[in-house]
Amino acid sequence: MKQYKVGIIGATGMVGQRFATLLENHPWFQVTALAASARSAGKTYREAVGKRWLMSSPIPEKMADLTVYDAAADIEKIASLVDFVFCAVDMKKEEIKALEEAYAKAECPVVSNNSAHRGTPDVPMVVPEINPEHTEIIKAQRNRLGTKRGFIAVKSNCSLQSYVPALHPLKEFGLTKVLACTYQAISGAGKNFETWPEMMDNVIPYIGGEEEKSEQEPMKMWGHIEGDCIVNATSPSITAQCLRVPVSDGHMAAVFASFEKKPTMEEIISIWKNFSGEAQRLQLPSAPKQFLHYFEENDRPQTKLDRDMEGGMAVSIGRLRPDTQYDIKFVCLSHNTLRGAAGGAVLLGELLCAQGYMD
Ligand SMILES: NC(=O)c1ccc[n+]([C@@H]2O[C@H](COP(=O)([O-])OP(=O)(O)OC[C@H]3O[C@@H](n4cnc5c(N)ncnc54)[C@H](OP(=O)(O)O)[C@@H]3O)[C@@H](O)[C@H]2O)c1
Repeated sequence: MKQYKVGIIGATGMVGQRFATLLENHPWFQVTALAASARSAGKTYREAVGKRWLMSSPIPEKMADLTVYDAAADIEKIASLVDFVFCAVDMKKEEIKALEEAYAKAECPVVSNNSAHRGTPDVPMVVPEINPEHTEIIKAQRNRLGTKRGFIAVKSNCSLQSYVPALHPLKEFGLTKVLACTYQAISGAGKNFETWPEMMDNVIPYIGGEEEKSEQEPMKMWGHIEGDCIVNATSPSITAQCLRVPVSDGHMAAVFASFEKKPTMEEIISIWKNFSGEAQRLQLPSAPKQFLHYFEENDRPQTKLDRDMEGGMAVSIGRLRPDTQYDIKFVCLSHNTLRGAAGGAVLLGELLCAQGYMD
């Protein structure tokens, strides 16, 4: 496979650090540029991150002495150093939209973790196992932006990375309605217990904007391309409640679902066990071999035991049973900063390379 030079925009942040760690020994990608805010620009990566390094492994040696660029002021320079960038920045929505479009217009494709462009109709929001064909909209987006190479592709919100994969292969039964309650880790807010001690022994029943994303983003992922935009699906109807819980990493979800044609529990488990998607077919380097793992044990999946399954890229499911109000209920778990953030974006980057969009 061809080697690609990549940049990390927002490299000093929580998700940016994950990118750095995941890309350290990546077989296709070599990190050649790091960028963050003007506060970090001009410092080495080691200096810019300072005491904020939160990963369990040390700062990658290959990146520690790279000079951090200013993500907004050095776009042309960064674009000349890389084939594409991964982006995860904490800025206002309109600023992120403008920043990502500026990279795309500098002919530097952007694979983004940010939510700013998720609603843009010609920006594909892709989980490679679910809707890899949505990348075909990139042609229309390039036409709109007036670019030859540049485009923006995004991954979806971390809250839905466990239940959308579990529900996706069940759509053949005519999924009509879904209720999801999520129990979300504090790293989803870029925090740990040192930086957010109020979360110890506590649950906060509100995560700004999260319920809307959890209900609306699956509809785009299950939508279809029509002309130069992605038209959202109109069913199932989804309702969500998202809670912050005292867990470092790993978002759990309790899910209820109904169908036009109710499947048996055995059918569902067999479908989950046999499900694989484009990421597995293409044998992308970050793809889990088994995307969906079903546990027969009543007390699994557990956050601490199961979030790191297959490098944090697999989804674990358990407790499937009939429900009295809906047809079925189950629980599921995914790692929010791996599959749900940087890992999911790296996998999307790999898909886009394999599909030829980064050439
Ligand atoms: N944490 C998660 O699990 C998760 C999951 C999915 C998506 N996301 C999204 O990913 C993004 C980053 O999240 P995070 O948790 O990594 O945030 P974070 O830890 O606060 O990091 C923010 C990053 O943005 C940079 N930045 C801030 N202001 C900037 C500016 N004006 N210009 C350029 N860069 C700027 C920071 O650089 P400095 O160090 O120089 O300030 C830092 O690198 C957010 O949009 C978030 O919603 C996060």
